[in-house]
Amino acid sequence: MKNIGVLTSGGDGPGMNAAIRAVVRTAAYHGIDVYGIRRGYQGMIEGDIYKMQTTDVSNTIQRGGTILKTARSKEFMTAAGMQKAYEQLKKHGIEALVLIGGDGTFRGAVEFFKHYTIPAIGVPGTIDKDLAGTDFTIGFDTAVNTAVQAIDKIRDTAEAHDRLFIIEVMGRDAGYIALHSGLASGAEDILIPEMKTNMDEVLQRIDNDEHRKKTVHILVVAEGDDFGGAKEVYDAVTKRFPNKDVRSTVLGHIQRGGSPTCADRILASRLGHAAVEALCDGKTQVMAGIVNGELVYTPFEQCVKENGVISRDMAEMIRVLAV
Ligand code: F6P
Repeated sequence: MKNIGVLTSGGDGPGMNAAIRAVVRTAAYHGIDVYGIRRGYQGMIEGDIYKMQTTDVSNTIQRGGTILKTARSKEFMTAAGMQKAYEQLKKHGIEALVLIGGDGTFRGAVEFFKHYTIPAIGVPGTIDKDLAGTDFTIGFDTAVNTAVQAIDKIRDTAEAHDRLFIIEVMGRDAGYIALHSGLASGAEDILIPEMKTNMDEVLQRIDNDEHRKKTVHILVVAEGDDFGGAKEVYDAVTKRFPNKDVRSTVLGHIQRGGSPTCADRILASRLGHAAVEALCDGKTQVMAGIVNGELVYTPFEQCVKENGVISRDMAEMIRVLAV
């Protein structure tokens, strides 16, 4: 194996650059050339591919975003798109791939490998942490820390005004950011897509707080909660408590940017390195992950099917600790 390709796909996450750096440098150590594929699968289709030098990744470990850029490619999900992508890989002499991304990236990979054969290793890069086969994904720790810092600031003003705040965090299908940021910021309640929301119970808890003379109530809602996001929850709360001082905030893409935390840099470095080592060992169509501190490789299909396991105990604990 002389040439490998690397791409980042789907939503970016802080730490992706550290993963690219680890891929480029580990490959150089083994005497393998790395081709950077810009804008994920879309760049693969369009042949937006360049030979990377080890210096291309200098001074990137601390930077958010991705130097390879990223995209969500609809065309890649078509037979014609996949064929074009495969032809570009052949044209550039790319013999294996490192795919850095989340759920959509590995679903795309599963489809592609039904039709084309090329060794590939995945690296979990998504702030959502919605993949099985790894305890943490690259970007999650930074995103949660960003959310916690924002919620802490909101709590200051909520305390000053005795207000109820509804704070929407990211997580289209997954509640991990809400769960972890809610627990770490001392939220009174969280709403996540993995647990059906009973709005009557949520409103009852707000009422109970009022009777206990608890003047601040922070409610963290994942954008993908079955009841809705901040807007829907705000409407329900203000309808039931018309005299209550309520505000809502959507944290949005602030959670996707910024310098990666130490934990994300280490995770990304370990997994980028592991991906190249796995290709050298002849592994394919598996994602590198860390489970209980140990490096493990899990087939792409399993990573996307099982979607991690949300801790209901943690969700319950948030309510207990808010009493
Ligand atoms: O997949 C990561 C994520 O940030 C989700 O939490 C969010 O729903 C989505 O991406 C937003 O995507 P976009 O940046 O394309 O609007």
